Amino acid sequence: MKAFIVYCHPSDDSFTKNMCDSFIKGINDSGNEYIISDLYRMDFKSDITEQEYLRDANYLTTPDVATDVLAEHEKINSSDVIVFIYPIFWTEAPAKLVGWFDRVWSYGFAYGEKTMKELDKAVILCSAGNPLERLENFGLLDSMKKVMFGDRLFGRVKNTEFVLFDSTSRENISREANWDLNLKNAYEKGKNLFSDSKKEFSLEDRYFTAISNSDTGEVSDETIFAYHQKGNVIWAEYSGGSVIKGFLLGTIDENNNLRFDYRHINTDGESKSGSCNSQPRFENGKLRFYEKWKWTDGCEGTSVIEEL
Ligand SMILES: Cc1cc2nc3c(=O)[nH]c(=O)nc-3n(C[C@H](O)[C@H](O)[C@H](O)COP(=O)(O)O)c2cc1C
Repeated sequence: MKAFIVYCHPSDDSFTKNMCDSFIKGINDSGNEYIISDLYRMDFKSDITEQEYLRDANYLTTPDVATDVLAEHEKINSSDVIVFIYPIFWTEAPAKLVGWFDRVWSYGFAYGEKTMKELDKAVILCSAGNPLERLENFGLLDSMKKVMFGDRLFGRVKNTEFVLFDSTSRENISREANWDLNLKNAYEKGKNLFSDSKKEFSLEDRYFTAISNSDTGEVSDETIFAYHQKGNVIWAEYSGGSVIKGFLLGTIDENNNLRFDYRHINTDGESKSGSCNSQPRFENGKLRFYEKWKWTDGCEGTSVIEEL
């Protein structure tokens, strides 16, 4: 199995470089392969040119993509898993990596008539100066995950994992205190990169849509559910079709059955709520949940949601 690592940090004198090295050592020790694009070392040109902009914005397959972009395409299509390793800069990836997406996610490769292979997994190993609580309390971590998984990697990878190494700024005493533990964690992530691809079931950052519903239901194939999971607690935000905005909150049991309450505002401006029991099934290579729901007024129905 082969991993393609997209590494982006301007200095070797950094936690992120050490973390990347530990991760690579883990891959080597697992007997698997990797290739790497070290974007600063390669001096990767991250500014999209006018010619590239006009090609992508007009959905054109001509002119041919530049050779440095083509080389990245080939690395992706020859790999099983893609890994992004970078520090957070102003609640984003460094500009060079953002520019990598501008150019490498070109028309005819990453969108349109795609030639990009669907990868088994995308893993993000990310260092942050701020502590986790601060990133979570302000919704910053969630925003970064949404941009990476809900946009850039959406529909392009089968599984995703976001690994955060927080409190790693130089003035934070946790940086030194947690240094060895963090590097060990990075090593383990590399070592288990392929073996744990069938890891513990989780609904974190997984997206679903309804593929069938009773007449009395309100969600449809225009409704998108963005699920999250922490321990046995699951929640999702949903919208689209006749739902303007909805939320659900509940639990998941050891057999991955869900029980949750939901509430949404529909396009008639009504506030609707109910409860639902939901059972998972893998069908046609996709995860589906078979749902039995009941509105608060007592009316019942069934629906099926399928992972996007
Ligand atoms: C320009 C710049 C912007 C940064 N912005 C953030 C940020 O928005 N959030 C955060 O948690 N850390 C931020 N940091 C801290 C980096 O993520 C930091 O580099 C990280 O703690 C890893 O340390 P390392 O550079 O030694 O690898 C920033 C650092 C720099 C240099």
